[in-house]
Amino acid sequence: MRILFLGDIVGKSGRDVVSSLLYVLKQDYQADLVIANAENAAHGKGITYKIYKQLMNEGIDYITMGNHTFSKAEIYEHIEDMDRLVIPYNHSKRTTDNYYKLITYKGIRFCLTNILGSVLMPEADSDPYTAFKAVLERTEQLRPDFYFVDLHAETTAEKRLFLEYFKEKAKVVVGTHTHVQTADEAIIDGCAFITDTGMCGAYESIIGREIEESIRSGIKKEKTIYTIASGEGMLCGVVIDIDDKEKAVTGIQRIQIRPE
Ligand SMILES: [Fe+2]
Ligand SMILES: [Fe+2]
Repeated sequence: MRILFLGDIVGKSGRDVVSSLLYVLKQDYQADLVIANAENAAHGKGITYKIYKQLMNEGIDYITMGNHTFSKAEIYEHIEDMDRLVIPYNHSKRTTDNYYKLITYKGIRFCLTNILGSVLMPEADSDPYTAFKAVLERTEQLRPDFYFVDLHAETTAEKRLFLEYFKEKAKVVVGTHTHVQTADEAIIDGCAFITDTGMCGAYESIIGREIEESIRSGIKKEKTIYTIASGEGMLCGVVIDIDDKEKAVTGIQRIQIRPE
């Protein structure tokens, strides 16, 4: 089985680049399943039901989220209908059990889950280690072959520490949230890992935000609204290979496509 995972989809530029490239990418990489982090899909913060359905129609099979899960209030109205949406277990506003999804494909049963880091993450109500232990306890009766974790966290050390502690259980740990792809993808003691998969969003931007506005806000200390950059998008993600017979993770490959 081959899984394509896309990093944080940010605003319209991110949605557009996914829309224009995903079909071909799925063919080129022969991907069986597509999972994407879409916590920034609706103008940089959160997701709407309409965008959720659009992303599903584009060919994404499951969506993970992050600290911005509840940034668009309408999610509360529709969350029960978004049955392929996985939200962080340790998000303080979580009201449903959508923190995991048991996925069965080609004889493999894996549990997709989403965990927030604790550093610079006020939305988290517990640290990622406590949170994942709780997920393991609550889902062990499902007997998945392994866990696929979208670890939505700010710091590199926190993500690596998580991997080292949980690599027996979680055979895939992919980082999201920083929007900057790292070049450390590897299989570490049988677990596919990358500190951050990067983003699908405007290439000329400050992690998706408009550059000029970021300067006015960050340096000149002006009050601004949060404006997402509107230029051409880059697409970032990873492809993960799993041996169907052995149920073992055998490869992780980085994808980064910049505008021409
Ligand atoms: Fe993000
Ligand atoms: Fe985030």
